[in-house]
This record gives sequence, structure tokens and C-alpha cells, in this order.
Amino acid sequence: MTTKTVAELLSQDVTLQDVTVKGWVRTFRANRFIALNDGSTINNIQCVVDFENFDEALLKRVTTGAAVHVTGELVESQGRGQSVEIVVKSLEILGDSDPETYPIQPKKHSFEFLRENAHLRTRTNTFSAVMRLRSSLSFAIHKYFNDNGFYYMHTPIVTGSDAEGAGEMFRVSNIDPKNPPLTESGEIDYKEDFFGKETNLTVSGQLEAETYAMSLGKVYTFGPTFRAENSNTSRHLAEFWMIEPEVAFMDLAGNMDLAEDFMKSVLGYVLDKNKEDLEFLEKRLLDEEKTKPQAERSAMSLIEKIKFVVDNNFKRVSYTEAIDILRNSKPNKKKKFNYIIEEWGADLQSEHERYLVEKHFKCPVILFDYPANIKAFYMRLNEDGKTVRAMDILFPGIGEMVGGSQREERLDVLKEKMAALNIPEEELWWYLDLRKYGTAVHSGFGLGFERLVMFATGMGNIRDVIPYPRTPQNAEF
Ligand code: 4AD
Ligand code: MG
Repeated sequence: MTTKTVAELLSQDVTLQDVTVKGWVRTFRANRFIALNDGSTINNIQCVVDFENFDEALLKRVTTGAAVHVTGELVESQGRGQSVEIVVKSLEILGDSDPETYPIQPKKHSFEFLRENAHLRTRTNTFSAVMRLRSSLSFAIHKYFNDNGFYYMHTPIVTGSDAEGAGEMFRVSNIDPKNPPLTESGEIDYKEDFFGKETNLTVSGQLEAETYAMSLGKVYTFGPTFRAENSNTSRHLAEFWMIEPEVAFMDLAGNMDLAEDFMKSVLGYVLDKNKEDLEFLEKRLLDEEKTKPQAERSAMSLIEKIKFVVDNNFKRVSYTEAIDILRNSKPNKKKKFNYIIEEWGADLQSEHERYLVEKHFKCPVILFDYPANIKAFYMRLNEDGKTVRAMDILFPGIGEMVGGSQREERLDVLKEKMAALNIPEEELWWYLDLRKYGTAVHSGFGLGFERLVMFATGMGNIRDVIPYPRTPQNAEF
């Protein structure tokens, strides 16, 4: 007799003798019905105890949160709400859970409270569904790239260059802060540090991914990324996961096609594989939205939103067109934006991005050809001399999901750009080498994994889609 998961048992359409299952008690009702969950599915299996045949002291220990081992007969359920249930023959308490102190009571808890109990929050329906989806999406990502001839490469977490300029960095050092080695001029001497130079946690694996694209052709990284910005928003983490494909001989149009096909594919995968979790999360979102004013509720349900993205083309709009739309928009004319768009060249704030995707286009939008001076040094300069082959993908409810570009492959142009931005060539000699030896058009992008999980689960706060969020003033667990 092998132990089965709840998911396996619930998918049985035959009755079976002596099934055995282990899990955690969600509720124990009327001294008779145990709702048991083991994480394999959003659904509980009902275990029916004939209390007259069980020791009263044992049944007292069947409390919410306790780990139990149940053996019994799997039968067609008498009650509503489930197809099968277990008539319990033997019951063993594997681990007690004191109902006086167990934080996860069978009632609605606020997400703030559950964040403080993040080690136990996956015992709830919402968080177990979110984390199963996160796992599924992450598998779908590897599957997509594997199916399409990409190699998975592991870019370093500790980096010696801070030239990417994607954000503030976290220093990595083992210097004794109380007694640091000093240079003659009294500054900390990083030559004496572990790596013999200043090092940081990476903000992106792109530059290293480019080196592999220029030899292996199609590569991607999918790993942790760190940014020390003090932005305490519902869409920023200090530690997040980023997917970064990089492809040789691919231009910006190819990059847009890849990003769109990739996102549709991974979302399509979870629509198919995570139906029950999505149905649960859809209902959760609906309940949450009922508490909001009509104008803030979304017209589509969660699953409809995901299907919409999978079935419809993303709208491709140049930065210049977007500026025209924004300049002529109602909130701009009525000065409702915090930042009024006056001239070409303005950086877009999230209020502008949200207007474009949520009010104007009402679908995912790929903005491309941004002004060179608001984008990173490595982006391919267009023939107009003032825009670069950049693209950002904006999603309703999320804002920026993807940032990417065609890379500057011309050595002289890249050097000029670096000089203008005071980026020392010595630091990126290896990056410049790619432009010296067999340079070619190439492109890639970065997708913030947690923002994708937010979209796929309908969760409103990025802290609720990663197991242990790291944010300013918070690194518990
Ligand atoms: O736009 P970003 O900064 O682009 C890069 O880092 C490029 N090097 C990527 C590339 O071309 N290979 O970041 C990419 C994405 C953003 O669009 C966003 O989804 C996510 O990473 N992101 C964050 N997600 C959570 N918390 C943060 N603090 C994030 N910063 C960026
Ligand atoms: Mg960006």
C-alpha cells in the first residue's frame, strides 16, 4: 500500500480499499469530517471519522494545522462538494498543532498578516495556488526555451562591473567594517578585499549573456537579480528573478516576436495545466474587486485576461507615437498626470504607461525606439542619431513587464557612447572584444518573473508572489 497524494486520490473514479494519505488538517467539523490538504492540489480530501470507534483523546488532537496520516477506504462521497472521500480506518497524528497559538486559523486573514507568517502562508488556498502557479510558470519558461533551441546559461551573481546602470547595487565584501584596510589617501582599499576589487550583486545577466549568444547562438539566463533602489512599491523587490534571452543575428523586430511568442506560450501552458488554481484565484480576485468602486474593477475576469493576452496580438507603438497620444490625452490636457508630457524626449512614468495600456489601447503594448538619452549605453543607435532600438512591454494592471533592445554591435559607436557616459573601457574590455571579433547584430530582453506571476495570478502586491520577499527594511526568514 503506497501513500497517495490528495490530487491522485481525487482523480480516482473507482473506489479503493486501504488508501493511505498524509497531510495537514484544514478543518475538523462535527467531530467527524476532516478536510485534509497536502499541497498537491487546491482541493482537500474529506476524511470521515466514525467518532464512536476512535479514542476521544486522539480526536482532540485533530486540530487545524496538525500533520496526520490517514488510512481507510476511498468511496463515492455522500455529501456535496467532492466526488470521493475516505472512510477512516486508522488515524495517526504525526505532528500536533496547538490551536491556541497556530497562526493560520480557518478564517480570512489579511495579506499583511500572512506576510508576517510567510513560513506558514502556503498552508492557505491563496498562497498554495500562487506558488503552484509560480512553479508551473517557471517550468514552462525552461520548456519554451528548451523546445526552441536555446541553451540555459548561469550568469554570475557576484559581478565586478557596475556598468550596466540598471540600478543601485548591493556591495559584496568580506572586509571587516570595523577595521577596513585603507589606501594612502584614507579610502577603503578594495584591492585587499576578497576578490581584489569592488564587487556587487548583479542587476542583470545581460552583458555576460551577450558573450554566450555570440558563440552558442541562442541562450537565456533565469536567475536572481538584485537592485538596491529604495522603491517601496507593490511592483518592486530588492531581490527578484529575471529571465533574459539573448540571440545572435536577431534584430529588434525579431526580439519583439520572440518576447510575444514566449509570453503567450508560457501563459497558455498554465491556462492548460493549472486550471483549478486559476479558477480559485479568479474567484478570489472577483471577491476582492467587489470591495472596490465600479470604475476600478476590471472588465475581464482573471482567466479572460490571460486568454486575451494569449489570443491577441500585442500592439506595437513607437515612443514618438506614444508621446503624441499622451500629449493629446485628457489627463494630460486637464493636468491630471503628476508629470505633464510636454516635449518629445520625456521619460515615461508609470502613470503614462498605465494610461496607454489600460485606457488607450486596452491590451499589452510594445513601445519601441526610445530616445537614446533615457536608455542604457548598450542599445543600438538608430540612423536618426537620437533614438535607440529599445523596447519595453507594458501590461494592463502591471506596467512594465519586459525591457530589452537590439544591442550596439559597432565598436566605434559603442566606444563613443561609453566615453560620453564616463564608462571606463578597462572595465568592459571583454564586452568590447565581442565587437572586435566577429561582431554581429544581436538582441535580447529581460522579463521580471514576479511581474509575470502577478499577472497570471491576479495578485496585486509583488510581495505575495515570491516565497520570501526582500524589500527595504525587510529580510525576515
Ligand atoms: O528593464 P530592466 O532594468 O532591463 C534590464 O535589466 C536589461 N538588462 C534586460 C535585458 O535586456 N536583458 O529590467 C527588466 C525587467 C523589467 O521590465 C521588470 O519587469 C523587472 O525586470 N524588474 C523588476 N522586477 C521586480 N523588482 C524590481 N526592482 C525590478 N526591476 C526590474
Ligand atoms: Mg526597464
